[in-house]
Amino acid sequence: MAYNLLKGKKGIVFGALNEQSIAWKVAEKAFEEGAEIVLTNAPIALRMGTINELAEKTNAKVISADATSLEDLENLFKEAMAILGGKVDFVLHSIGMSPNVRKGLDYDALNYSYYHKTLDISAFSLHKVLSTARKMDAINEWGSVVALSYVAAQRTFAGYNDMADAKAILESIARSFGYMYGRSKQIRINTVSQSPTQTTAGSGVSGFDKLEDFSDRMSPLGNATAAECADYCITLFSDLTRKVTMQNLFHDGGFSSMGMSYRAIEQ
Ligand SMILES: NC(=O)c1ccc[n+]([C@@H]2O[C@H](COP(=O)([O-])OP(=O)(O)OC[C@H]3O[C@@H](n4cnc5c(N)ncnc54)[C@H](O)[C@@H]3O)[C@@H](O)[C@H]2O)c1
Repeated sequence: MAYNLLKGKKGIVFGALNEQSIAWKVAEKAFEEGAEIVLTNAPIALRMGTINELAEKTNAKVISADATSLEDLENLFKEAMAILGGKVDFVLHSIGMSPNVRKGLDYDALNYSYYHKTLDISAFSLHKVLSTARKMDAINEWGSVVALSYVAAQRTFAGYNDMADAKAILESIARSFGYMYGRSKQIRINTVSQSPTQTTAGSGVSGFDKLEDFSDRMSPLGNATAAECADYCITLFSDLTRKVTMQNLFHDGGFSSMGMSYRAIEQ
């Protein structure tokens, strides 16, 4: 059911690779709620994924941008504003990748060049998106930016590896930029800390199936799905949450407040 929560709003959605992607669900819901959107992803993702199907469904243009490249990001905001006919009201940052996780290197034996890449792609890219948008004055006053995080930013999860460091930095960037952008333009910036979700990025983490099962049994409401995460993101883009900023918001069925649950210990 749609509520027209984003009627008249324009946005940029980063990170829809395929139908499983959290960003895919956010794009679908944003469109259902009346928003006009531009989709973007890295050049390789545009070749490997199925984003054009989503573009057709959501009446959106796709612009290629590597989120670690300031030049690509400038071009993205310029083109997006031309397509949408003005500044944007919301941005979804749904980007994560660790070459160390991909190559199966443990946390005590990281490849440092990969480590830099993990941080650049999964965390600094949020800084780059925000600083480009601010320089170009590309986001309307009272706009909203949401980035996706995971509870491994606060607590240790075996196998989450250097992505935990990336998420801790990501959440800190959301706070630091939330202060600056809030003071100057009333733009709010939050991270949503989502349950384990079966996606290309999610299932790359070692032991993912067991983590997902444990997390589901630990959470009183069970794991949150990608579609439920999208619903939450839509509320954060809407005018109903205008004073929520600089927060890391758990969207995890209660997992982050649990210590022990009977369902988790009963195998
Ligand atoms: N799946 C989970 O269990 C889970 C849980 C909590 C948080 N998250 C976070 O949600 C976000 C989205 O991930 P997902 O689970 O939908 O997986 P996904 O693999 O569908 O999305 C990750 C996206 O990042 C994009 N990306 C990678 N490098 C990029 C670059 N250089 N420039 C631009 N885009 C780039 C990929 O192309 C892909 O579209 C990530 O930040 C992830 O860490 C995922």
